[in-house]
Amino acid sequence: MSRMQVNDREKTADRLLKSSAKNSYDPEVDIDWDAPLEAGKAFIPLHRSSLYGTELWERLTDEQRIELTKHEFASIASNGLWFEVLLMQMLLKEYYDADPRTGHAQYALTEIADECRHSTMFGKAVARVGAPAYGPVPLLKSGGRILPATLRGPSAYASILIAEEILDRIQRDQMWDENVQPLVRMVNRIHVLEEARHVTFAREEVVRRMADCGKAERAYHQFATAAVGYAICYSLINPHVYKAVGIRPRDGFEAAWQNPNWQNTLHWAGEKIMSFLDDAGLIGKPGEWLWKKACLLRD
Ligand SMILES: [Fe+2]
Ligand SMILES: [Fe+2]
Repeated sequence: MSRMQVNDREKTADRLLKSSAKNSYDPEVDIDWDAPLEAGKAFIPLHRSSLYGTELWERLTDEQRIELTKHEFASIASNGLWFEVLLMQMLLKEYYDADPRTGHAQYALTEIADECRHSTMFGKAVARVGAPAYGPVPLLKSGGRILPATLRGPSAYASILIAEEILDRIQRDQMWDENVQPLVRMVNRIHVLEEARHVTFAREEVVRRMADCGKAERAYHQFATAAVGYAICYSLINPHVYKAVGIRPRDGFEAAWQNPNWQNTLHWAGEKIMSFLDDAGLIGKPGEWLWKKACLLRD
């Protein structure tokens, strides 16, 4: 059984609905999409680039390093959008069976509405910086098609949380960084503010649903959560981004996954969510090797 306490479902929903009514953004009007990009500013902090510190990095000029961060930003944002499209489908599936009179069901719809605006915002941001919407590699994109139909219970909410909390840590770091493009900082600020509610919602659902699981079910959810966690980390940087600076995708991919700086970045991005998942009983032997491969867990 989980050692964690959780609030009453309707009380939480009521609080989140009130907060959403007070504090929501419309990227169409709250972001100045016509503002010029600032020359010489990176799109993600240089030390968070997947190649930072590698031999390939040393060979790049300052301009190429900034160019690479632009494409890495586009990959992270378009994958963030992909995660959102999947989680909207999962939430809508939950809503289908819910009582529409409850605050809980109404908050699920509110969250879907938030994610609709976020996906629009990420799409506009990628277009504005002038990079491709890389999204996930084809294998993961195909896998994503069956995910909303197959994931259920605590691992469905845990999967949502991993995507949200890893992105949250990356974006919080950037929104305060004055060396990062103002447009990126604004997009991240809006996202971080609205995602805080989603994190509360999903965390409580994980705890509630784990409390109802038997031993075999817990093992299943531990493995399913690890598999999704691995897919999320693996997808963040699409290897095609490296082509933008003349590096073969395979070479860039191999260098990134062997890069201790990138491994540390992934570990750091996952620290908060991993500690929660551990407390909630979702980290176990099944899937441990996947957590390690994703750099989220260390020996
Ligand atoms: Fe979002
Ligand atoms: Fe979210």
